[in-house]
Amino acid sequence: MCGIVGYVGQKECATMLLDGLRRLEYRGYDSAGLAVHDGKEVKVVRAVGKLANLATALAQTPLKGSTGIGHTRWATHGRPTEVNAHPHVAGSIALVHNGIIENHVALRRQIEERGQKVLSDTDTEIVAHLVNLHAKDGNDLETAVRLALREVHGTYAIAVISKDEPGKLVVSKTASPLVLGIGEDEMYAGSDVPALLPYTRKMIFLEDGEIATLTQKSFRITTLEGAPVERAPQHIDWSEMMAEKAGFKHFMLKEIHEQPRALEDTLRGRLDRENADVIAAEIGLANIDISKIDRIYLIACGTSHHSALAGRYYLEKLARIPTNVELASEFRNRDAVIGKGDLVVAVSQSGETLDTLMAVKEAKKRGATVLAIANVIGSAIPRISDGALYTHAGPEIGVASTKCFSTQLAALLLLSIYIGRRRNTLDPKRARELVEGLAKLPHQMKDVVAGTKQLVANVARRYGDARDVLFLGRGLSFPIALEGALKLKEISYVHAEGYAAGEMKHGPIALIDSAVPVVVIMPKDSNYDKTVGNLQEVKAREGRIIAIATEGDHEAEKLGDEAIMIPEVEEELTPFLTVLPLQLYAYYVADHKGTDVDQPRNLAKTVTVE
Ligand code: F6R
Repeated sequence: MCGIVGYVGQKECATMLLDGLRRLEYRGYDSAGLAVHDGKEVKVVRAVGKLANLATALAQTPLKGSTGIGHTRWATHGRPTEVNAHPHVAGSIALVHNGIIENHVALRRQIEERGQKVLSDTDTEIVAHLVNLHAKDGNDLETAVRLALREVHGTYAIAVISKDEPGKLVVSKTASPLVLGIGEDEMYAGSDVPALLPYTRKMIFLEDGEIATLTQKSFRITTLEGAPVERAPQHIDWSEMMAEKAGFKHFMLKEIHEQPRALEDTLRGRLDRENADVIAAEIGLANIDISKIDRIYLIACGTSHHSALAGRYYLEKLARIPTNVELASEFRNRDAVIGKGDLVVAVSQSGETLDTLMAVKEAKKRGATVLAIANVIGSAIPRISDGALYTHAGPEIGVASTKCFSTQLAALLLLSIYIGRRRNTLDPKRARELVEGLAKLPHQMKDVVAGTKQLVANVARRYGDARDVLFLGRGLSFPIALEGALKLKEISYVHAEGYAAGEMKHGPIALIDSAVPVVVIMPKDSNYDKTVGNLQEVKAREGRIIAIATEGDHEAEKLGDEAIMIPEVEEELTPFLTVLPLQLYAYYVADHKGTDVDQPRNLAKTVTVE
């Protein structure tokens, strides 16, 4: 997830572009750059790190001109270095991009065969070369962009300028967001409304598969096929703060809603649907020989530890490989028996958590192979690992992790399917059911968030004042119970415990009375009957039950004081859906109490102390 901006008009544009990027910095911040047409040439300045570094570089090398593009990067392909920073230049073309080009490897080969030198590791530079090649064939900029995009598979929002066509900006999008800003004798483009709000409130949201050509006085929208599109600008009356959160009250709520997109991005290019398989090179296994692995250690903290617990279930069930799950902070407190033949999978959103980093160092010292599952490209843990499987969730701003949890689940399931297929422990028919089920999930997640939101908000209001809350689940619903409890604790400061439903009778049942809401996660899966038994035990002690159950489960509706339903999916996929109402529950309880949802007390997004 990167941020892009563009300007064409009569003013000097470098300051506006930089300011627009500042407003988009929440979308990514590992490098940034501008390209500005000075009337004769396109000049580029790029810098690694936060925007402040780009500002310093621009102070040393000012860019003059009134047509330009800018980019703030959240690396997906290629490490955060200056050569990988945008804008990318090929011949007369400068281009910025947000998204992922899936067929970049094949296109790179074709481009190199045509004698072009590709300098960076990015998928974006390939698009710049394609546009340049079409421009060299005599096409104008808009046509060159159109022809290039027909060759590209994947997601993109791009902004392009050409040395040969000063005063023109061409933009296009598919899946990634792009907004046009209509000014007086000037036009803007940006990834999101916030980038443009100080400059104009007349905006047009570009739709997938559309191209817009902007000049100082005009804008023209067409489809990729060339059909004209008529769309009147809308007036946007959001405050700047609202706009940054895309109209949501908090980043956490925005990020809960972003999960379908984050999951789609994490799966993109990694599923081989034809062969019901997963592509090794796309999940960080290019340099790891799975046939030499006898055992797996999943190491993580907090929410990432909960996804690791689900990961153990996947790896053992689908790949039949012995798997341990370790709290990173405890791993070094034992003299763990670990070494050659062991694969450590370190799960970390930030890739910087010190406990996890130290555990990885220890495991490496003892000869284990390490695969990192991380969200921040180029962060410390993937840097020292033998392979990295990145979740493409985009920057997570809310301290309470939501979209990174579901994308970690996806990464662990992909890994398990891949290993299961290699070890012949997962038959192709079952693999197909999972692969197809995964591909359908983003849509189902969207429906669950939209369909349960109001009910969960009402339930949160009714039960929000409870002092203690229990979360129960069995099998794959046990880590979800832990995660539901952690979310509630960290943002609403309500005491909550997640328990394996079968463990309740060994202690926590003593807590239950009519003042304790018990959230029972009970999808129709292989553990269903036993979970219903546990629910009856709670009921017999007057506990109030909030059931998270499968649509059509009348038993759950009858037994639960509240019942929140999810659609029926493969057992392995239930956590992706059951976690959503729990995230929303924590959010609405906290919002109702008025706590600081995005920055709860005492917590930090990245924990770099032991
Ligand atoms: C809870 C949460 C934390 C993190 C934990 C590990 O919502 O976000 O529990 O999961 O601090 O962080 P990472 O995944 O960055 O290693």
